[in-house]
Amino acid sequence: ASSKPSVLLTRNDYPEEGVKLLREHFQVDTWKSALGISKEELTSALNGKFGVFCSLSDKIDADVLKNASDLKVIATMSVGYDHLDLKEIKQRKIRVGYTPNVLTEATAELTMALLLATSRRILESHKAIHKGEWKSWAPNFMCGPALQGSTVGIVGCGRIGLSVLEKLIPFKVSKFLYTSRSKKPEVEKHGAIHTDIDALCRESDFIILTSALTPDTHQLINRIRLESMKSTAILINTSRGQLVDQDALIDVLRDGKLRGAGLDVMYPEPLPLDSPLLKLDNCVIIPHIGSAQIETRQEMARITAQNIINVFQNKPMIYEVPL
Ligand code: DGY
Repeated sequence: ASSKPSVLLTRNDYPEEGVKLLREHFQVDTWKSALGISKEELTSALNGKFGVFCSLSDKIDADVLKNASDLKVIATMSVGYDHLDLKEIKQRKIRVGYTPNVLTEATAELTMALLLATSRRILESHKAIHKGEWKSWAPNFMCGPALQGSTVGIVGCGRIGLSVLEKLIPFKVSKFLYTSRSKKPEVEKHGAIHTDIDALCRESDFIILTSALTPDTHQLINRIRLESMKSTAILINTSRGQLVDQDALIDVLRDGKLRGAGLDVMYPEPLPLDSPLLKLDNCVIIPHIGSAQIETRQEMARITAQNIINVFQNKPMIYEVPL
């Protein structure tokens, strides 16, 4: 048996950049599938582990940690950590690493893709060709709203929200609104106006959700706020599905009370194939790929591994969640 401490990888397809690094320092125990480990398997696999390399599909709570008396570090290959029960983790004096910053640009870029795909009806247009609906050039065919001259509201304008705002400047948006706990000079220097969530929902032509999922943001976009939006507005979500009351979203999209939605996130994930969301032509839906850029994912894996190694070497992590 090896004298090296052991680390669990919760899937067998984490990028080599991270796995290789871990092998230099640890005995690496890899869960055998790329479908992710079940709660029961994770609970028993944490027994005797020094660290775990995980992702957002691994829910880690008190139950899962009941055998994890040797666990010193949980490193998630994500910026979000709503899948981790921080209170329990803190009590157990386990440290948490994550991967902010490196995926900001990738996620902001994907947000731009959703803005354009929804407003310019790209998927609907593509389908229309296949369905033989393109009979001739027509003045009203597949028309959508302009970003130019619009009001864009960014909910939770942190790193990703700010990057989206900056990417939108060349599109000649006329007004930016944003919400966040406090005013942010780096956002206001672009002329963005700090406002409350209700006003943002009422006044924006494009509403972009980029905030973390916390008890405060859970179902923030509730039925009342969805119904208060302009019927010509478009909602984009690249953060977490649970920010939105999804049943209410389905209703407003179906009833024409909201023009469209672009969703990289939803619940549950993966989305069942019979979800009503998949039946709506005005909803562009993609499978949680915000950070899915080759270099970004490699860098996320490297940082996740390095976070674990740094705990082992008594060094500060590259990015640690303050507990
Ligand atoms: C994250 O990092 O939290 C994203 O949701 C996936 O990259």
